[in-house]
Amino acid sequence: MVEKKLSLLTYGCQMNKHDSERIAGILKEENYSLTDNIEKADMILLNTCSVREKAEQKVYSQLGRLKKLKEKSPHLIIGVCGCIAQKEKKRILNKVPFVDLIFGTHNIHNLPQLLHNFRYGNEKVVEILDESVDFNFSSPIYRESKIQAWVSIMHGCNNYCSYCVVPYTRGREKSMPSSLILDECARLSNEGYKEVTLLGQNVNSYGNDIKGEGDFADLLEKVNQIDSLERIRFITSHPKDISEKLIERISTLPKVCEHLHLPIQSGSDRILEKMNRGYTAEHYLEIITKLRSLIPDIGLTTDIIIGFPEEKEEDFQLTKRLLQDIKYDIIFLFKYSPRPETKAALLKETVSAEKKQERFDDLLSIQKEITLSKNKSLEGKIEEILVEGESKKNKNKLTGRTRTNKIVNFYGSKDLIGKTINIYIKKGGLYSLEGELIRGN
Ligand code: SAH
Ligand code: SF4
Ligand code: F3S
Repeated sequence: MVEKKLSLLTYGCQMNKHDSERIAGILKEENYSLTDNIEKADMILLNTCSVREKAEQKVYSQLGRLKKLKEKSPHLIIGVCGCIAQKEKKRILNKVPFVDLIFGTHNIHNLPQLLHNFRYGNEKVVEILDESVDFNFSSPIYRESKIQAWVSIMHGCNNYCSYCVVPYTRGREKSMPSSLILDECARLSNEGYKEVTLLGQNVNSYGNDIKGEGDFADLLEKVNQIDSLERIRFITSHPKDISEKLIERISTLPKVCEHLHLPIQSGSDRILEKMNRGYTAEHYLEIITKLRSLIPDIGLTTDIIIGFPEEKEEDFQLTKRLLQDIKYDIIFLFKYSPRPETKAALLKETVSAEKKQERFDDLLSIQKEITLSKNKSLEGKIEEILVEGESKKNKNKLTGRTRTNKIVNFYGSKDLIGKTINIYIKKGGLYSLEGELIRGN
């Protein structure tokens, strides 16, 4: 059979990136190989994100550009999947009449059937399911890395943060049985993978929906026992579900890396309540204090939303002070964007676009200084890194990450890729560290 080319354009979070690995794996068995060149593709699939309006606009403008390609080559298959598809099939069909295939976040496993229906039918194929039915690791995956792997441990989210569309695009929380997760991690380690990242919208609530599974801390303990795995990461954690037991496990389990992404969203209790986050700034600070008392050098990162409805100057100042106090390694800043169906979309937007930008710039400049000074404080130190591959910017260099999730670039021979080595940190920059091999590594 003639090999066909697939262009897979992925937007959004790790969950979507991982889904794209599954899509690529399934379509590989259908004789499609990946290409970055959309002009050469026989099929273009957009795996979409709807977390903010901007993310959605990106997708629709890309689809607009694809119209010309489709006119030039009518046999080109154009598909839309992921979070926009899950919620907006009607809008997609109206706005993009030339689309051939639409499927959602719950039926990726059904792709061969959908493709078959498309090939042997004479109309578009649209299938959106309300709930996930495929819940195992049996469908093929084409993983980008041979060293690090994502392992999805749960689907969905039950938290209904008032601004967030994810519970509507990914459904209710559903944990994967731990035996399947462990089998998958063991299989990956047998294949030579060194690092796994356990994925879920709120990994700390893992196990709440199935009896007898234990909690997330228990799962970490079990994954930690897999012999040749070296590193375990996980994302994302929710402050309301971080237990003392989990903090203790992070500090004691040798393979669990010393990094926590703990989105705070705002430093103001008034706003946190409106966001339905379920914790106060004080509680959040208590978690940080506990974490740092047990793991002093832990890497901490967070997400912050700027300009949530009714965010006043004093609320913003509280967020700013919190940033200055906590001193994260990295922060991800987002301007609030109302999303259809969410509770917050009913609230009147009170922060102007200019004000949002001003607050955004203010926090960004504070954080840049903090990030740089933290990275500089590592100069002269030795760090353990897992070598991930060639550096994207400079093919002569290698790149890896510290256990605390900082990127380190250095000169070294390619046979170090996949190895865990010690590196001397020469220079700390804003986005990465410059390292040097130590003799005898
Ligand atoms: N489950 C994860 C990821 C959610 S989406 C979590 O709870 O952290 C990633 C980030 O996008 C969120 O943490 C939040 O900061 C941001 N975000 C979500 N909805 C948003 C919206 N409507 N406007 C602006 N930022 C938003
Ligand atoms: Fe969205 Fe909140 Fe769930 Fe994260 S925890 S996915 S922000 S609803
Ligand atoms: Fe992720 Fe965006 Fe969907 S953040 S879960 S791809 S809405």
